[in-house]
Amino acid sequence: MNTNSITPITYDYSGLIAPDKAAQIAQQTGLLDADLKFLIPRLESVRREMYWNLDLYGKGGPIPAEKQPFDAGFFALPESFLGQDRQLLDKIIATADRLAKEVDRVIVLGIGGSYMGGRALMEACCHPYHNELLRKRRGGRPRIYFEGNNVDNDAVEGLLDLVEGDDDWAIVVISKSGGTLEPAAAFRVFLEALRKSCKGNEEKLCRRIVPVTGEKGRLRELSKALGCPTAFPIPDGVGGRYSIFTAVGLLPAAIMGLDVVRLLEGAAAMNERFHTAAPLENPPLAYAGISHLMETMRGATIRVLSTWGKGLEAVGLWYDQLLAESLGKHGQGATPLTVVNTRDLHSRGQQHQEGRRDKLITNLIVDKPQRRIIAVEKSKFDQDKLNELAGKTLPDILSAAIEGTNRAYAEDYRRTASIHLPQLDEVSLGQLFQMLMIATVAEGRLMGINPYGQPGVEAYKRNMNAILRGERMKDEG
Ligand code: PA5
Repeated sequence: MNTNSITPITYDYSGLIAPDKAAQIAQQTGLLDADLKFLIPRLESVRREMYWNLDLYGKGGPIPAEKQPFDAGFFALPESFLGQDRQLLDKIIATADRLAKEVDRVIVLGIGGSYMGGRALMEACCHPYHNELLRKRRGGRPRIYFEGNNVDNDAVEGLLDLVEGDDDWAIVVISKSGGTLEPAAAFRVFLEALRKSCKGNEEKLCRRIVPVTGEKGRLRELSKALGCPTAFPIPDGVGGRYSIFTAVGLLPAAIMGLDVVRLLEGAAAMNERFHTAAPLENPPLAYAGISHLMETMRGATIRVLSTWGKGLEAVGLWYDQLLAESLGKHGQGATPLTVVNTRDLHSRGQQHQEGRRDKLITNLIVDKPQRRIIAVEKSKFDQDKLNELAGKTLPDILSAAIEGTNRAYAEDYRRTASIHLPQLDEVSLGQLFQMLMIATVAEGRLMGINPYGQPGVEAYKRNMNAILRGERMKDEG
């Protein structure tokens, strides 16, 4: 594994610390040395518990009732794919390359954890106008569309308008349970459209459908009945929102042409840091512990992920789901909120600066743009008074916005922390996703909440099905 060439992402919480002799308001809004001292042994014990749980998972024996549901399997996925499961990873890449050769559009059907990771990777790592580019400029990769993540008639119809009658598209259908209604209904619609496009060529139809699903369930049965030659598993013991490093995230990423090996290497490097670093220098542990203290001791019940870049919005939404579904239980759990700046400084900024003191703002900052740097040029039309900024680059302006915003918050004792990504690429995102998944489990352990399962979501699914299918659902239990 190539971990040497990995520039580490960092978590900086210095903006949350109140010096011992600070003014009262500083002490009331920030964390004191004593708070951190109190945190260290708790984080050490959480890490021990998490390793003990991993050991239990690895042994494959019975799981005690009080630990269920128990989805600790996500943790070791990066090392498995880069090691003993490398053949499976190669098959995912080969399938993605085959689809890229055969079709120009791929529709990815899935909802929640079965879609948000793929979308986050696309928005962060692909060209911002990927689908609009000519195929050559997309590196020969297909256009990607996400559906089955809602029940929006006109959106589905709109996508059908794009593909119907054409012979150049494929479906990746993702559902761990195989029974979620939104992607299942969308699959039926798009399957019929694809059948028509394939004009009776059953072999072609089957090659154009790649299911990603659990070992059992309706989608697994359906894909067997259809005769799909390739289907990828979502292992038991990996929950939906923790499944980005299975085929759920890896297959769409590979179809986009992303470097899934670097993604996994980044994630594996984060595992290593979690294992070895001292609690407060350990990104997932420190982030979990500090966020937990700010929530429970300083009333920061709103967890704002303040992203500085358009490509990070879907990463933030991925984290919103992870935090909300994992820890929003038993009347507890911080409320996640993703903002994209500087855009949202002009909408939410006012409230974050002067509203209730119930927010922990964590900046998500990319240190270096991936593309050519653009600067403000001198112009003979200086009515906008921008000549005095001539030579300043867009990254210069963004840095000033970041510094200016955080300084304004700090002046009013509104505290911020920051996560820095060296650049917006696969290896940084691999580290970030793994950091936030480990942190969410660690935070759940600090709170005494099981971070796996989502009984509240299951309740809506049951009701919706019961309303649509009537008494039959009740009879089926
Ligand atoms: O985190 C989770 O488990 C959920 O968000 C699921 O991913 C979501 O409900 C979709 O479930 P499924 O993949 O079974 O269709």
